[in-house]
Amino acid sequence: MPSLTIKNSGKTIEAETGKNLLSILLAAGVSILHKCEAKAECGSCHIFVTEGRKTLSKAQRPENERLDSIVGVSSNSRLACQALMGAENITVELLA
Ligand code: FES
Repeated sequence: MPSLTIKNSGKTIEAETGKNLLSILLAAGVSILHKCEAKAECGSCHIFVTEGRKTLSKAQRPENERLDSIVGVSSNSRLACQALMGAENITVELLA
C-alpha cells in the first residue's frame, strides 16, 4: 500500500489507493479543517502536495474553481477532500 508523509511532522501513514486525502488524514488522527464536509465548497482542507502529485486523481472543475478563489495557492495546491490517492507515495504539507 502506498504511503502519505506529512512534511510538517515527518509522520508517515498508509494510504489506500482511491481514498481521498482528507479521509486518510482524519482516519490517522491528523487534525485538518474540513468545514464543508468534503463538498469542495469551503477550501479549508487546502494542502500542498510536495511530492508525488502526479499519482493523485486529476483536479476536477469544482476543485479548480474553489482553488481559484483561495489566497495563497500554488501549483502544488490541492483540496484534500477532492484529491484521490494514487498508487505511489506522496508527501503533503498541511497549512493549518
Ligand atoms: S472540506 Fe471543504 S473544500 Fe474540502
